[in-house]
Order: sequence, then C-alpha cells, then structure tokens
Amino acid sequence: MSSIQEEYETLPYPHYVHPLSDPARSAVLGRLFGLRPADPRQARVVELGCGSGSNLLTLAARFPGSRFLGLDFSGPDIAAAREVAAEAGLINVEFQQADLLTWTPPGQRFDYVIAYGLFSWVPDEVKARALELARACLAPPGIACFSYMTYPGCKQPEALRDLLRLRTEGLANAAEKLAAAQAVLGFLDGAYGAQKDRPQSASLHAEVRRIRSKEPAFLLHDDLGGRRDPCYLLQFTGWAAEHGLQYLADSELHTMLVENLPLESARALLALKLDRLETEQFLDYVTNRSFRCSLLVGAEAAVSGQLNAAALHELCFAPVLRPAVPGKPGDGEAQFQMADGVTVMVRSVALVAFLRALCAWPDGFTPFADVLAMAQSATGRPFTEGERAQLDEDLLTLYGRRQLELSAVPLMPPLHVPERPQLTPLNRVLARQRGMLVSAHQRSQRLAEPERRLCGLLDGTRTLAQLRATPEATALGGPLEPFMAGLTRTGCLS
Ligand SMILES: C[S@@+](CC[C@H](N)C(=O)[O-])C[C@H]1O[C@@H](n2cnc3c(N)ncnc32)[C@H](O)[C@@H]1O
Repeated sequence: MSSIQEEYETLPYPHYVHPLSDPARSAVLGRLFGLRPADPRQARVVELGCGSGSNLLTLAARFPGSRFLGLDFSGPDIAAAREVAAEAGLINVEFQQADLLTWTPPGQRFDYVIAYGLFSWVPDEVKARALELARACLAPPGIACFSYMTYPGCKQPEALRDLLRLRTEGLANAAEKLAAAQAVLGFLDGAYGAQKDRPQSASLHAEVRRIRSKEPAFLLHDDLGGRRDPCYLLQFTGWAAEHGLQYLADSELHTMLVENLPLESARALLALKLDRLETEQFLDYVTNRSFRCSLLVGAEAAVSGQLNAAALHELCFAPVLRPAVPGKPGDGEAQFQMADGVTVMVRSVALVAFLRALCAWPDGFTPFADVLAMAQSATGRPFTEGERAQLDEDLLTLYGRRQLELSAVPLMPPLHVPERPQLTPLNRVLARQRGMLVSAHQRSQRLAEPERRLCGLLDGTRTLAQLRATPEATALGGPLEPFMAGLTRTGCLS
C-alpha cells in the first residue's frame, strides 16, 4: 500500500460536492466553444479519485438516465460510497476500489471524465496516468474536468505550508499534528494581526486565517499531507498536450476574459499579442490565482477560437441580476441589482424583458426558448432579427461577467414549500450518515445538529404545521419557514 493510500484510508477526506465539475456546466463551455458534447442526462461519466463519492452520488441522483463510475484506491471510502448508493436506491452508479496506476478502462468509453481534487495531491506518475486515462476514457467529443492548485497564487501559501510541515512532519498521529499546526497558525495569526499597517501582513494574515478555519480533515490532507504540487497553467496544458489532450476552457468563463480587466489593463494585455493560453497565464498573475478547474478535450476536437453566441439557444438560463425597481412592459432601460447590491443598468427592450422573464423561476434553469417566449409575450410583440442578434451578444457578455448563469440542463425546483415535505432519497441518507444535504445545483450544505435531526422527520408523512410543533423544529432556534424554503429552492426535496 502506498503512503498516500494509507493516509486516505486512515483519515477519509471530507465529503464534498463540486459544482465546477458538473457535466451540465462542462457541456455549456463545450457548446460555447463550438463542440456538441453529450447531454448530461444521457451520458457516461467516470470520476478518478472519487473519495467517498458525494460528488458522483449527487450527479447520479440528478441524472437517472446517465451512468456513473467512481474509482478510488481507498477501501473505506469506496465501501462508504457503495453503502450510500444502495441505501438511496441509486442503481446508475458503480464504485470500484482501484489504483489508477493499474486500472484499465472498460471497452465502452465515457462522455465526461472528472478528476477533481486529485492532480495536485498525487505523485507525478499518477498525474501522468490520470491524463493518460482521461484521453483513453473519453469518447469524442467528451470533456475531462481537472482541478489543480496553481501558481502564482500558491507561492505564498506554499511558504506557510513549509513551516507547518516543519513543525508536524515527525509527529505520530493526526491529533498531535493538528494541535502543532494550530499552534503555528495561532502564532502567525497574532503576529500578522499585530502588524496590520505593514502592507505584506494583510494578505498573509488573511491566508493564515483561511487555513486556520478549515475542517480538521481538510487541514490534514491539504496543508499537512504528504503531497501538494501546484503548477502553472502553461505547465498543466503542456502535460495535457503530451497525452493527446487540448485545453478547451476554464470551467468559469469569466476568468478567461481580458474584457473583465480595467480598460487600460485590458488594452495593455492585448498589446502584448499573446496567444490564448499565454493570455490566461498572464490573467492568473493579475488575480494571483491559486486554483483552477480546467476542461480538456481530445487534441483532434475542433475547438472554436470565438465564443459561439448561437449555442445559447440550446442552453438554460438562471438569473443573477434582479430588477432593482418595478418596471412596465416594453421598458427600453432598467436598473438591475447583483446580490451584493451593485447595480447594473440595462439599455435594450429585449434584454430588459428577457432578464425580467428569467426571474419568474429565480432558482431554476429555464430553457432559452421559454424565456424568450415569456419576454416577447410581456413586450407584446416578437423581437426583430436585429434585436435577437443583439440579445445573443448581450447575454454572452452578461455570462462572461457572471451576471447570469447557464446550464445545459433545465431545472425547475418548486416555487413553494410542499404541504408534506419529503427529502430526496439521497438526501435522507446523506443527512443521516454524513450530516449534509446536496442540491440540484450540485452544491452541498453542512447541517448543524438540530437541522440534521429535523431532516430525519422530512419523510412526507408530516404536514408543515405538524413539523412546526415538533421539538426538532423548536431546537432550530429560529422559524422553520426559512429553512424549509431553502430546501425547496435548492431542490433538496422530492
Ligand atoms: C484530495 S482527495 C479528493 C477526493 C474527491 N475527489 C473530492 O474532491 O472530494 C484525493 C482522492 O484521490 C484518491 N487517490 C489518490 N491517488 C490515487 C490512486 N493512485 N488511485 C486511486 N485513487 C487515488 C485518494 O484516495 C483520495 O480519495
């Protein structure tokens, strides 16, 4: 058994769900860059290093028409993943205990490969093998999603990690390591905090506080664990190329766009006449980026250099902007607001109507054609060809600024809390076994103990009024309604 396998078997990695690895998101980027990836509702997906499977289990529950395979060499993690799948009645997901170095892909290939939280935490031969497997597993035009730690943002945390490891490396067990690490972090927190006026202290202080607040198992694996190898984007894409894979996109489009820089900086960067990958590498310096989630496709795939606005017509939309003030149909100008209160002025009849229509399903993803129909009906006329073309461009711009969200799959969570709330089968098991819930948006939520106990009652047998009268609801320490509304909005209920 390798030391890394022993590390994960002794202390399982915390349960996480990764929205950036969602095939419904990868498919958006694939389509915007000119490919036609498989519909995530009818796809084959493999996850390399799936841990205890929370990510894959969530996908399997969301997409019952797809098939999922999870691989990990940690026996306890695979056993835990299998147990949840069986209890939740998920028959479209399989978990195999396997070492990636020796596992051979089955004959039938996959539409999506996920390697999240793997690449930077394994030896170089496993990194190479993961890329080799991604290439071998992908059926064109399949997409592989790799997350990894990056430079330049990891340079400073690396120095902190060196000090933590210096103090913890020889210690015998997890409890001793954690205590020694917290002592180092406590010292640094105080020392940087006491020198707030020194410019370099602020960012170091923030980093120390971030590490200090991590869950113990996360701190042990990510900061004190045996391996953590950040790399530059250009190194990663170079290795991918050696394995017959090309860079498709970042899973967050806004991070790729020069337009999101202040105007003068954008002009200066464009003047350097860099290629696409070099430009993104420079952007990593501007943001001091420390983490990436990159999408890869086969070297032969015809990735477009331009974003394809027409692809929007096949995608589903969720609002980020909300109307700042009520308006009237046909308005050619309106103010919208981000969640943080920042206002955005929109000047176009079609876009104003489209964004307002989108808010009819605030937590869902609505197909383009439906939003367009609602927008035109509210305006009282069809949009002209010119308006439609401009609308596509405007929507693409908003997506590139994170002012709307896209998915390849529609989602319509109920607008009102059901009379007899019932968690989805997977959430019933996860709440009980792991103290967490997972959403239809591929996100997870940790439950405080009173919430977890209340979740045990959400089996569809009790009305809201009956739930309100239970000791479990009283123990929440606040009204039941906001908690239930949250579960409804996020699609945690059946
Ligand atoms: C940092 S954890 C991430 C787990 C999960 N993907 C997540 O993000 O929550 C890395 C996982 O990779 C697995 N792993 C590392 N090397 C492996 C190998 N050679 N073969 C199979 N699994 C491996 C570990 O057991 C561990 O579960």
